[in-house]
Amino acid sequence: MNIKYYVDRDGSVITRFSVKEWADWINEFLDERAYLLIRERVTVEEEAKWLVKTLNEIKKGIMVKVIAVDESNGRIAGVCDVHRKKPLQAHGHNVSFGLAVRKEYRGRGIGKKLLKEGIKIAREEFKAKNIWIEVVEGNKIAKSLYEKLGFKEVCRLRDYVDYFGEYRDRIIMKYEE
Ligand SMILES: CC(C)(COP(=O)(O)OP(=O)(O)OC[C@H]1O[C@@H](n2cnc3c(N)ncnc32)[C@H](O)[C@@H]1OP(=O)(O)O)[C@@H](O)C(=O)NCCC(=O)NCCS
Repeated sequence: MNIKYYVDRDGSVITRFSVKEWADWINEFLDERAYLLIRERVTVEEEAKWLVKTLNEIKKGIMVKVIAVDESNGRIAGVCDVHRKKPLQAHGHNVSFGLAVRKEYRGRGIGKKLLKEGIKIAREEFKAKNIWIEVVEGNKIAKSLYEKLGFKEVCRLRDYVDYFGEYRDRIIMKYEE
């Protein structure tokens, strides 16, 4: 295992991977019933559309992706999405994240490193006033990671998420230095 971290600001990193690799990446989280919001397997065609949309977002400067790659086999190990609202909109000073690490790469500090890099981008490049992350009730590992890095729960949207037949809260957390 040889993990390297890349920051994608122009689409040159995400396009190193095929649409099939991205589809496999996301479908694995569904198969393990991870606490993400996806509920149906994506097809390669759907993933191709996702890739075009994501490339557009990166090129518009409203998304940066931090990607951990295992250089020993070329696999994606983890991803942190840094989302900024369009800077000229009234909520352009807010940044939020998406975070996921492939099962076999967990517990090695990859998630922590990805999120720390995401926070640095949010603060230094995007000059975010507010930095947010959301977690589904029950995702104790993610919540404890976020708390360790300085996020605090600010509110809950009760029963917002249908977690495979069980309603769970969507917990909104805010970064406090
Ligand atoms: C949440 C997730 C991103 C964490 O990634 P990771 O690379 O395993 O996390 P790290 O190895 O950096 O661990 C960071 C912290 O998480 C906690 N943690 C990690 N694995 C844990 C485990 N098995 N049990 C308890 N706590 C754990 C620890 O607090 C750890 O802090 P420490 O370094 O001080 O011990 C990963 O579990 C994941 O992708 N899960 C599925 C998708 C998901 O839930 N994403 C988050 C959506 S909000």
